Amino acid sequence: MKQEKTYHIGEVSVENIAQSFGTPIYVYDTEQILSQMSSLKEAFKNINCKFKYAVKALSNINILKLIKKYGFGADTVSIEEVQLALEAGYSPSEIVYTPSNVSFEEVKKAIAKEVTLTVDSLSLLEKIGNYYSDIPIFIRWNPDLIAGEHEKVQVAHKSSKFGIDLKHKDEVLRIVNKYKIHVQGLHIHTGSGIEKVMSFIEGADKLMNLALEFKDLKFLSLGGGFKVAYTKAENDLDIRELAKQLAELLKRKYSSDSRKIPQIFFEPGKFLVSKAGYLLVRVNTVKESGNKQLACVNSGLNHLIRPAMYKAYHQVYNISNTDQGAKKKYDVVGYICETDTLAKDRNLADVKEGDILCFCNTGAYSLSMASNYNMRPLPAEVWIYKGQPQLIRKAQTYEQIMQNQILLNF
Ligand code: LLP
Repeated sequence: MKQEKTYHIGEVSVENIAQSFGTPIYVYDTEQILSQMSSLKEAFKNINCKFKYAVKALSNINILKLIKKYGFGADTVSIEEVQLALEAGYSPSEIVYTPSNVSFEEVKKAIAKEVTLTVDSLSLLEKIGNYYSDIPIFIRWNPDLIAGEHEKVQVAHKSSKFGIDLKHKDEVLRIVNKYKIHVQGLHIHTGSGIEKVMSFIEGADKLMNLALEFKDLKFLSLGGGFKVAYTKAENDLDIRELAKQLAELLKRKYSSDSRKIPQIFFEPGKFLVSKAGYLLVRVNTVKESGNKQLACVNSGLNHLIRPAMYKAYHQVYNISNTDQGAKKKYDVVGYICETDTLAKDRNLADVKEGDILCFCNTGAYSLSMASNYNMRPLPAEVWIYKGQPQLIRKAQTYEQIMQNQILLNF
């Protein structure tokens, strides 16, 4: 977002978007998504590599269509996400399905759609052997690595629910050999918001060691988790350095026969869409409480749960006051009947009731994790595409929230 006289996303005034489409509203800058995609393509151009967008980060069908248009596949974790990716125009061969502990009924539905299944438990592997031994699969491992920007998004620690424990390697091989399962790829995903290149390299190294045990392996998926900076003190993952070190690792590991080098998959979510997203909210009340100035807004943890869930920091601006002078300190709080502090101790240009505040870096895991808590509808989404703001999701209505409730006569 740029500030000249007023705040802009691309050439579009943020204040005007709030006036035209109302608040709360999520706004996405498609140019930013495209630029993230091209920086990935550029950084990894010397590696035989494919990117599968982690749909869970932001699941608007237009975003999926846009990402597909520029050559990325889709990483899905539920049959609903599979369906969405198909509707967005991805072919089954472009979709990986990496669910965690879902029912076999659901797995069967995904297999029927001919997407690429990643198996994440011994029990599912055995079932695949029994019923579908001819379909090529990926196997997800737990590499036993701590990586990620918050405890809750570190998913490859020793007792994680994700993937198969490395100690079960022999058991996996026994099942694979027994049923002659065609393992075409191995997978890991260690966490989200990983800044250290070394974490990816360690994971990749472990996976390449395991790969030696599987014949006919074509792919290694290293998951997602590329860090984006939420504060000025943080850094994005250095993707060029990752590409460089990964190329070296592949060269070293496959020095005896470079024809065996597998194709690498990555599943970036946050990296593609986080910075592109803005949540615009309106200030309902300004109040003083103890020694705090509170800016109370028409949104809350129902629309943006990351601060409550991960103590996440999202930069906030007062869009309605472009005064560059002295700032005041505020906590920005929501309208939900919980302590839903969205931002703490922030220096903002003087806030008045009716002002528009903008939370940055809210493209990923923001609307996609929103809820109807307190019976609040989900906000609308607008994207800025080729310089024009366009509505890509209407705000939910009370009737839509209520549509599945059944009023009994008793
Ligand atoms: N692949 C798999 C198997 C995943 O589970 C995930 C994310 C990704 C790829 C994409 O990770 P990303 O590139 O977006 O970091 N709600 C949390 C993040 C949870 C990520 C869950 N899995 C947050 O708001 O930080």
